[in-house]
Amino acid sequence: MDSILVKGGSALSGEIEIAGAKNAALTLMPVTLLSDEPLTLTNSPRLSDIKTMSALLKSLGTEVSSMQDGKTIVLSSHGLNSTHADYEIVRKMRASNLVLGPLLAREGHATVSLPGGCAIGARPMDIHITALEAMGAEIELKDGYLHAKTNGGLKGNLVPLRFASVGATENVLMAATLAKGTTVIENAAREPEIVDLARCLKAMGAQIEGEGTSRIEIQGVDRLHGATHRVVTDRIELGTYMLAPVIAGGEVECLGGKLELVQSFVEKLDASGVSVEETARGLKVKLNGDRPKAVDVVTEVFPGFPTDLQAQMMAMLCFADGTSVLEEKIFENRFMHAPELMRMGAKIDVHGGTATVTGVETLKGAPVMATDLRASVSLILAGLAAEGETLVNRVYHLDRGYERVEEKLGAVGAKIERIKGE
Ligand code: UD1
Repeated sequence: MDSILVKGGSALSGEIEIAGAKNAALTLMPVTLLSDEPLTLTNSPRLSDIKTMSALLKSLGTEVSSMQDGKTIVLSSHGLNSTHADYEIVRKMRASNLVLGPLLAREGHATVSLPGGCAIGARPMDIHITALEAMGAEIELKDGYLHAKTNGGLKGNLVPLRFASVGATENVLMAATLAKGTTVIENAAREPEIVDLARCLKAMGAQIEGEGTSRIEIQGVDRLHGATHRVVTDRIELGTYMLAPVIAGGEVECLGGKLELVQSFVEKLDASGVSVEETARGLKVKLNGDRPKAVDVVTEVFPGFPTDLQAQMMAMLCFADGTSVLEEKIFENRFMHAPELMRMGAKIDVHGGTATVTGVETLKGAPVMATDLRASVSLILAGLAAEGETLVNRVYHLDRGYERVEEKLGAVGAKIERIKGE
């Protein structure tokens, strides 16, 4: 397995182009299952998670092809021939469960494997199930699979979610576009990826109102047609690269970045003494002073501080002047990067869902282990400012969510290279 070697101490300068959002693309791809006509996605990120979703869709009979640049994907489900999402693919990636809603809506039945445990917590599917049941689905768990069917198709209904789950909102939103009558999702997730999904569905003829708020109303239609849709900018990749010059020193412009995607994150950077300037091309970031100031962070659903930026923020706070408290409210068990950062000399105390980070002036490079996607990149960020070399092992997770990280950081002056494993 590949590793990433980072030599700390180089200030950064230049531009980094931010890719399309992994989490948006992963929910936009299953949209193909709702239509006979082709769906073209542009600005798609080039990631292994996208390949996993392609493999899953192909196993259902979808034709998937990507253009030379790898950023344009054309999906066509006119020859859909299976409604079985197999454990062998689903276990690799939880987002595979996003085929459940579309398959049920189009075919009236589906068997979808439960994703199983995940490094960052239990991540059950009860909210998806209760919501689809409210729309008339009958769902039974057997042999590790959800066996879902409808009696004459899904029916619109009031669908209140007990928690604003991103995936459950996406599954219901997709399913409701072809359901009979009106569906109202209450306590819907408001993430930009949901807004992007609704924009794509509307371009295909769906009738949706209220995306981006807690109440989404969908009027079912008989069919959806093809469309071309540009995937929204990845706000997590954006936030990650915004932290790079704060940790390493220097100034970086993140191309394609928009404040509205990272508002709560920028508020915390602001409180830490980081300057973020909106330019015509993106967001320009630099640290005022020698060290960022300590700041407390609580992860929340959008528009709150994203859990997917918590690990990277912790990397920054390891160098901050003062003590910060980080509270993780979305996932249990999402501090696996803390012991690795501590191996580099960080001072962190973890108690349940709370981590107290006392900033130090320098960290020391060390061999560390990447345990999940965002944890891996937080170790790379820390390595940018650590003394000596940091070897981030097992970067399999990193490649799921960050395209060409070593090229992007290398181009702005970081000393970083990929070491090929077997
Ligand atoms: C999505 C993102 C992920 C991000 C997360 C929260 C994708 C592909 N992934 O994941 O990167 O970290 O949103 O912003 O878009 N839960 C239940 N029952 C359910 C569903 C969820 O208890 O039926 C719990 C989960 O265990 C978790 C919390 O709700 O603790 C958040 O999950 P959810 O919003 O569903 O996240 P995902 O859609 O899985």
